[in-house]
Amino acid sequence: MAAGRLSFRNITALAPMVRVGTLPMRLLALDYGADLVYCEELIDLKMVQCQRVVNEVLETVDFIAPDDRVMFRTCMREKDRVVFQMGTADPDRALAVARLVEKDVAAIDVNMGCPKEYSTKGGMGVALLSDPDKIEAILKKLVTGVSIPVTCKIRILPSVEETVSLVQRIEKTGIAAIAVHGRFKEERPRHPVHCDYIQAVAGAVSIPVIANGGSLDLVRTHADVEEFRKATSASSVMLARAAMWNASVFRSQGLLPVETVMEEYLRYAVQYDNHAFNTKYCLCQMLRDKVESPLGKQVQAAQTNAEISEAYGLQEFYQQTQDRLQTKRDTLQRSSQPSCPVMDGDIITMAIKFERREYPPQITPKMFLLEWSRREKLEQPRYKTVQRSQDRAFQSTVTVAKKKYRSSLWEKSKKFAEQASAIVCLRVLGIPEGRLGEDDSGLVCKRKREGRSNGNSEEERGKKLHVEAEASEPAAPAEGEGPNHPTQLAGTL
Ligand SMILES: Cc1cc2nc3c(=O)[nH]c(=O)nc-3n(C[C@H](O)[C@H](O)[C@H](O)COP(=O)(O)O)c2cc1C
Repeated sequence: MAAGRLSFRNITALAPMVRVGTLPMRLLALDYGADLVYCEELIDLKMVQCQRVVNEVLETVDFIAPDDRVMFRTCMREKDRVVFQMGTADPDRALAVARLVEKDVAAIDVNMGCPKEYSTKGGMGVALLSDPDKIEAILKKLVTGVSIPVTCKIRILPSVEETVSLVQRIEKTGIAAIAVHGRFKEERPRHPVHCDYIQAVAGAVSIPVIANGGSLDLVRTHADVEEFRKATSASSVMLARAAMWNASVFRSQGLLPVETVMEEYLRYAVQYDNHAFNTKYCLCQMLRDKVESPLGKQVQAAQTNAEISEAYGLQEFYQQTQDRLQTKRDTLQRSSQPSCPVMDGDIITMAIKFERREYPPQITPKMFLLEWSRREKLEQPRYKTVQRSQDRAFQSTVTVAKKKYRSSLWEKSKKFAEQASAIVCLRVLGIPEGRLGEDDSGLVCKRKREGRSNGNSEEERGKKLHVEAEASEPAAPAEGEGPNHPTQLAGTL
């Protein structure tokens, strides 16, 4: 066991809160002065299925579930401050999860205080409190199995003696600290917190005790935090609801207006591409009784972070952030991909982006490919486009003469993805693609000549179709769209 250098004494922590304790809230709490930030409880069964992915665009580490959902997102800024809380009733699974996140977090915590049925029916949360052998097995396994500190969070038992006795047994597992929520398992958040129980525990063990449960009646501002600590004789204090309502409760200089806090929260949510529903949920918690105000209604109606940003007058910030992220995405894609052809299964790939400004108006690589196929008496090129869920980007594969071509880079629209795949095909086959500055190509020359013709040639009809298509770009396609219908093909040249 190595407790590391992380201290649990004299600290103020953001408590674990499902849905609330995601990255934007944790960063905000740190900005305002929290020493430690717990993530929301994450269930071991879900976490063991996750893959650790470095997100170079957002500069985060993401733990992604098989259904592509980001279960846990973290970043360097909080690496030494974030406590990963898990829900578990299984020592081996707990260890597997702890090892998965160990490099990216400051400590591991086990939730032994959740009274909700979804936790207790699996033997997790408060259910663990009536199975001390299981508690011991889980904590010992974690303490010996990972190199970062291990902690747990409990509720109090029916008597002081039982609570103290359990905590003394827990202390022997080698954990670094224990958070005590001073309520019985049947008590609701509105019930007064039992400071005397926390005090008894703090006096009976030598590991730091983190007092929790004071939000409603005791802690409203930063000045109250020390009062709560004194009332419980604990080493430290952990805040849930007070921080959820106004995270600036951690500020030693005093509370900020909640409007300022909401705006700062939203900036982090946009910057870290937080799920819009999560952003919305957290903002609604901050709005509290103003949730039915015009702003509250706008937030509730919003479906995307863009719409939420609009409600707060942050559309410019939102757009700038998106542009910055897109530029970074493009740069990273370009630098990480080879520009020479590479086989991906039976598909010939190159790292190519379609840049509209590199082509004259009304000229596209798809047109060049179509012209060439006709001249060669080949079937029309067939495009198949897919869209991925994480950023809704598109990738297209074009089939020409039974060979498939694709750009390994993803594009922001179906139209661009098709153009990129056409460029790959043209470059691999060594055919002109119509780019500005490219050696004079047959098509461009023909176009110039046909500018003076009666407009009945096949090329000219293609040109007309193209112009029409530019004026009425079709909506994004469904995933896994099949080969284009001939009219669609013409319409999207
Ligand atoms: C929205 C919400 C979500 C919570 N989720 C968790 C959780 O994931 N894990 C946990 O141990 N406790 C959770 N709790 C309980 C809090 O961490 C804390 O123990 C409780 O709210 C009492 O502290 P307070 O008086 O400062 O609010 C949650 C509380 C709230 C309000």
